[in-house]
Formats: sequence, C-alpha cells, structure tokens
Amino acid sequence: MAPDTARRRAAVVGLGARARLFAQALAGPYADRFELAGFCDVNSRRMTVHNAWIADARPGRPPVPAYAAEDFDEMLRRDRVDLVVVCTVDRSHDDYIVRALEAGCDVVTEKPMTTDADRARRILETQRRTGREVRVAFNYRYNPAHSAVRELIADGAIGEVGSVHFEWLLDLRHGADYFRRWHRDKANSGGLMVHKSTHHFDLVN
Ligand SMILES: NC(=O)c1ccc[n+]([C@@H]2O[C@H](COP(=O)([O-])OP(=O)(O)OC[C@H]3O[C@@H](n4cnc5c(N)ncnc54)[C@H](O)[C@@H]3O)[C@@H](O)[C@H]2O)c1
Repeated sequence: MAPDTARRRAAVVGLGARARLFAQALAGPYADRFELAGFCDVNSRRMTVHNAWIADARPGRPPVPAYAAEDFDEMLRRDRVDLVVVCTVDRSHDDYIVRALEAGCDVVTEKPMTTDADRARRILETQRRTGREVRVAFNYRYNPAHSAVRELIADGAIGEVGSVHFEWLLDLRHGADYFRRWHRDKANSGGLMVHKSTHHFDLVN
C-alpha cells in the first residue's frame, strides 16, 4: 500500500451509471488523495462519456487512460494501479476482484460483492492469501434514517432485540428498474434477493 503522504492510484472498471459517483469523486473532491489512473470497460463509448463529464467539471485535466476489458491486467501494471473500484455488472465482480488482489491492489466493489457462494469463497480465499483489502459499497448504511435507527437500538431505546421483521417497498420507478435492465436475469445479478437484498441483510446485520 502506498504511504499515507502519497496519492493512491485508482482505476475504475465498469463505467456505467454507478461509476459516475466514484469517478467524479476521485477526479474532484478526493483528487488530493487519489490519482484517477485508468478506466476499463467492454464498451469504449462509456469511457469516452465519463472522460467528457470529467473534462466538463475539470477543464484542462488530461483524459483518464481507457482500456478494453481484455487489457485489465495490462492497465494495472502499466498505470501502477493500487486501488481498483469495481462497478461492472454483478456476474463479473469476482473475476475483477480476484485479478486485482492477485496483482497486489486493494479493492472497493459495488454491491453485491458477488452472486453466489462459490464466487464469494474464491474472493475470500484470495483476500486472505494476498492480505489486501476488499470493501463493499454498502451506502444504505449511511442514510441518516438508517443511522438514527441503529443509534437508537444501540442506546437501548427498545431493549434487547429478539427478532427482526424487515420489509422493503419498491416504488414503480426504482422498483421497475430491476425488471428492465440486466439485473432481471439471475445469471447477471444472482436475482433480486442477492442483487437488491444484499443491502437489506447488511442493514439488519
Ligand atoms: N450501491 C448502490 O446503491 C448501487 C446502485 C446501483 C448500482 N449498483 C451496483 O453498481 C454496479 C453497476 O451498476 P450500474 O447500474 O452502473 O450498471 P450499468 O449497466 O449502468 O454499468 C455497468 C458497466 O459495466 C460494463 N461492463 C459489463 N460487463 C463488463 C465486463 N465484463 N468487463 C468490463 N466492463 C463491463 C458495461 O459496459 C457498463 O458500462 C452493479 O454491481 C450494481 O449492483 C449499486
């Protein structure tokens, strides 16, 4: 891992909707701590669009080097990447996480970490063996309402918790999205109980 004083070199793989949050943060408010060192996607147009957004927000910044998916390992080596942010479709998370760990990088991955138990075991085994870090982006935790509930329970407001009944309602816009795009296919997402409810199991835990 780079010393605290050095900027870490971060790459983003999967430049879709979700990656915008990470790419803009790394190129903007966190630019004093991170160098956005590489983009990687199966679709070059996606990377061009992300570079255009960054250029609009930060005129004069050189474009982030863009790599095809088959050049992922080459990107890690050539651009001396030490942190990989995984924002691809869920079915490919394990492959990128494992390759990044094997190359000596730490990883921040979008949820779900992966889609089935075998893939999860492979990630955990590689993480233990390499000693690198894997963090999963459970942003729901930081919703102020969820944090407040957690604080109340931890403060004993309702006494000892004996059981949890958890329900989550999806509205027509956000909820319908899960049946329109790639997530609707279990092979891509592990199904709604994995793809979406990973947030919910995390909240209950
Ligand atoms: N934390 C949250 O609340 C939250 C919200 C939305 C999405 N997500 C997660 O973010 C990830 C991306 O979702 P999205 O909505 O941005 O999807 P998206 O379809 O907009 O983007 C996915 C990107 O990955 C690329 N891609 C697909 N297969 C690839 C491969 N094998 N190698 C390289 N690139 C590949 C696609 O070309 C696309 O650019 C998913 O894992 C999803 O579960 C998390």
